[in-house]
Amino acid sequence: MSQNVRKEEAARAALNHILPELSPDSILGIGTGSTVNFLIEALGEVKNRFAGAVSSSKATTERLERKGIEVFDLNTVEPPRFYIDGADEANERLELIKGGGGALTREKILAAASETFICIIDESKHVGILGKFPLPIEVIPMARSYVSRQITKMGGDPAYRAGVTTDNGNIIIDIHNMDIGRPIRIEEQLNQLPGLVTNGLFARRPADILFMATSEGVKEFRRPSSTD
Ligand code: A5P
Repeated sequence: MSQNVRKEEAARAALNHILPELSPDSILGIGTGSTVNFLIEALGEVKNRFAGAVSSSKATTERLERKGIEVFDLNTVEPPRFYIDGADEANERLELIKGGGGALTREKILAAASETFICIIDESKHVGILGKFPLPIEVIPMARSYVSRQITKMGGDPAYRAGVTTDNGNIIIDIHNMDIGRPIRIEEQLNQLPGLVTNGLFARRPADILFMATSEGVKEFRRPSSTD
């Protein structure tokens, strides 16, 4: 079965999970990426059952609006009941690497602001230890060299993602070969670097529910109570 079919299955599982809780005034937080794109397609079929969405990227906003789903400014609405998004990697604690699509800053804001974060992946994203996928960080352009040097001191190999400007006007650096055995600690260390806007580790605020599409169907995981 193709990876796209799996992604769609995970998206449908998330939709089935939230449908009973939707009401005409519900606002949904919507992430970015190819898995979420299947969710947006499916949401178009039930758009009369909720008020609209807050969006994690310009790309997602355009897709939502094409489906006739109203997009709200996060500042003007109540905290979303659900935030649904994909990931580049997920471990068994539902800690994630995100930002492969470069939308990590707005994604992290929506994950933090929402009551329940539902992550949707196919099983290729499931890992024992995070970090095989290069960890994206969003950086203010003038801090590129400084932040890269600090990353090297931390044991990572920084790679500038050439030609990419984020929705916030910043750059992306992908960190290769970083030891992410303790994701919360690394996330907090990276958060200390001036000029680094957001890192793609979602460990301090992991997903609450993970729908992972596998060859045996979609599996649902819940976040264990968390400590570093
Ligand atoms: C976007 O910046 C990312 O965080 C995506 O959520 C992640 O890359 C997953 O994307 P796919 O669903 O396309 O794999």
